[in-house]
Amino acid sequence: MNQKLRVGIIGCGNISHSHTQAYKNNPNVELVACCDINEQRAKDYAKAYGIPNAFGSVDEMLKMKDLDAVSVCVWNNGHNPETLKALRAKKHVLCEKPLAMNTEQALEMQRVAKENDRLLMVGFVKRFAGTTTVFKDFDNKGTFGDIYLVKAKYLRRNGNPGGWFADKERSGGGPLIDLGVHVIDLSRYLLGKPKAVSVYGATFNKLGMKKEIKGVSHWHPMDYSEKDKCTVEDAVIAMVRFDDGSVLEVEASFTLNIKEGQTSLEVFGDKGGALVEPRLEIFKDENDYMVNIAPVIEDGGNVFGAMFQNEIDHFVDCILNKKECLCPVEDGVELMRILDAIYESAKTGHEVIIKR
Ligand SMILES: NC(=O)c1ccc[n+]([C@@H]2O[C@H](COP(=O)([O-])OP(=O)(O)OC[C@H]3O[C@@H](n4cnc5c(N)ncnc54)[C@H](O)[C@@H]3O)[C@@H](O)[C@H]2O)c1
Repeated sequence: MNQKLRVGIIGCGNISHSHTQAYKNNPNVELVACCDINEQRAKDYAKAYGIPNAFGSVDEMLKMKDLDAVSVCVWNNGHNPETLKALRAKKHVLCEKPLAMNTEQALEMQRVAKENDRLLMVGFVKRFAGTTTVFKDFDNKGTFGDIYLVKAKYLRRNGNPGGWFADKERSGGGPLIDLGVHVIDLSRYLLGKPKAVSVYGATFNKLGMKKEIKGVSHWHPMDYSEKDKCTVEDAVIAMVRFDDGSVLEVEASFTLNIKEGQTSLEVFGDKGGALVEPRLEIFKDENDYMVNIAPVIEDGGNVFGAMFQNEIDHFVDCILNKKECLCPVEDGVELMRILDAIYESAKTGHEVIIKR
């Protein structure tokens, strides 16, 4: 492909701005269209960004011949249908996380991408953080030895956004599928992408949205209504065992009675350990002393906009220059297997063995 990549945005809500701004910064991209079920929103968005075509439906946008690739930035329940339509219309797809509502849908997306010979990349944006790249550099030099345990937390004290996030029909679940997905994927990526073999998990539905809380601001998605009901879990805790013997312990919450929200990811190997989130620190023994190393990384390596720029640049590079995709659809499928198993374990109260 000698010309610029012609890109369309599906879903003009909050996260789409991060995609659009990054595409705008990429000299090899021309943003040619956007669409949203809220047609006026799509029109306003097109005007704000100078995008020449705006549509009220995906089907209309996909009729465009001069469109090569799309970003799918819709509610989780739209990831499967809109991605399938785009792939069948021969467009490459960058689909936001989670890849789908469940493994079955994810496998269908994987199959259709293959049948149509299109790239389907999953938006695992944390893989593109500076901290992740630097951790990988150290790991490749053997700094951590055999990594056998990862502990990850993505906890909010009072952060249920409401709207579609709180509606299981549209989201597929609560903090596990929304927040847990980020840190479970990052943990698996840092471990070298082992396959999960079993899972033990519990979810809790005790607190709901806590709309009544005063003294702090509440963040809501587009289309939020005070009448929204919460049908998703408040919190989840789970243990995932992988086929290389390593184990991940993960916690995520929208609402939990803790002092303050926490995001942390700790990695433990037999030669060293590390804190990867919220900043990178390395813990080792040297000359019979315990030493702590804090690599110097531009802006700390964990800046949201920079991660998105790296993700979008990589997607474009994969299509235009046939670069190997860092977040292939297979990784999205594997993540859905883990999420499904955690929800199943929470329901049954038993360990779930992941069969393939
Ligand atoms: N990578 C990240 O860090 C990150 C952060 C936030 C959200 N997300 C993901 O991005 C997606 C969107 O989240 P958001 O916060 O932008 O939500 P949002 O509610 O702000 O925006 C979603 C938009 O999609 C539109 N929409 C819904 N279904 C549609 C369909 N089938 N066709 C066309 N338009 C449709 C809605 O009208 C809305 O404008 C979700 O899957 C979410 O998990 C990722």
